[in-house]
Amino acid sequence: MTTAKTPARPQNKVNKITTELAEYPMEELARIRKELVAQGKPVFDFGTGDPKIPTWEPIREACREAIPEISQYPSVKGSDALKSAQQGYLERRFSLRSNEYEVIPTAGSKEAIFHVALCLVGRAGGKKHIIYPDPGYPVYRASTLFAGGIPYPVKLSADNGFMLEPWDLPPYIQRDAAAIWINYPHNPTGAVASREYWQRVVEWCHRTDTILLSDDCYVDIYDSAIDLTPLPDGAEDDRPMCPLELSSDRVLSFMSLSKRSGMTGYRAGFIAGDADILSAMLRARANFGVGSPDFVQKAAVVAWNDDAHVLERRAIFTQRIAQAAPVFQELGMLKEVPKATFYLWTKIPSAFGSGDVRFCLNMAELGVICSPSSWLSESIKGYARFALVPGTEATAEALQIIKDYVNS
Ligand SMILES: Cc1ncc(COP(=O)(O)O)c(C=O)c1O
Repeated sequence: MTTAKTPARPQNKVNKITTELAEYPMEELARIRKELVAQGKPVFDFGTGDPKIPTWEPIREACREAIPEISQYPSVKGSDALKSAQQGYLERRFSLRSNEYEVIPTAGSKEAIFHVALCLVGRAGGKKHIIYPDPGYPVYRASTLFAGGIPYPVKLSADNGFMLEPWDLPPYIQRDAAAIWINYPHNPTGAVASREYWQRVVEWCHRTDTILLSDDCYVDIYDSAIDLTPLPDGAEDDRPMCPLELSSDRVLSFMSLSKRSGMTGYRAGFIAGDADILSAMLRARANFGVGSPDFVQKAAVVAWNDDAHVLERRAIFTQRIAQAAPVFQELGMLKEVPKATFYLWTKIPSAFGSGDVRFCLNMAELGVICSPSSWLSESIKGYARFALVPGTEATAEALQIIKDYVNS
């Protein structure tokens, strides 16, 4: 029997949000990289923020040893051992007491960033806007759209240190904001926020009844010199802070082992904060299929319980920033050396116009891969992000190529 085919255009087979969503930019970079490798060209990949530093051996060992003979579904709640390791970390790092917040494990922060919007859009009588920084992590926007919310990107500017200041937004947005994403240390600019800034943000969230979603993926990737300086009595702690230090009311912090412990492939993180929100979210998450495999949980316990391996990773990133940042400063592409993350947000010299995609594609042809601001933002042109992923020698070679190209 033949069935008559309806003349449907392919894009009608999925909804509009799916067809109109731009290709996830990192996929595009991966394709360029593959082409270069196929042509036998050397590649210096500063594209994706996924440093190739071996994961601390005790973490890998814990994972290997935990592979079970019989496989069973993991629970979304996670093990007690994982919960106490996460609480122990929050206490050591931010002096948080476990009775002040709730915690739920996540399969890395990306899925959690995506899924949280499903629980927040339409809250409090129908609030629909989700505010987020631009440039910023692209999932803030995608999750808002898929949840039926209205994305509200806020353009960040070097003029105020790339701070997102929600109190300056139009009153109707302040009234209708279901949630706001704040991400300091910030990908891609490396900006960090002061305690005064966080205080203002938390106060604003309480006043406007907006849920503060703090993306704390890079909270442990800061200048390693801070670790080496013992704090004089009464001096302020210079490490990036977590807003839960101020309040857990309407505050959620998204933590991840990806950058802290070099565990991007394991998919391990957690959300900590407001117990009312998290207990409801835990029920919802039982539907999402996001329980962490038990062997990943065992590895995560080892990672959250240890800080020394993180110190070693920080030292590597601090060294890489010290190697690369002055070169971009000399080229007039970078004003300030970032105090955190492993990204350099560089301004493309005016001689190249605002064509950041063209600049990055030209660089890619020379073997140096970096991300144009147009792919990391909705409105910002003229910048390129370098993720300091390659090692010292490769970085030195790449910096020479960049210098030659920019000075040519
Ligand atoms: C700002 C930011 N948030 C979240 C994530 C997601 O991290 P994870 O590996 O924990 O999903 C990333 C990853 O690069 C990121 O840059």
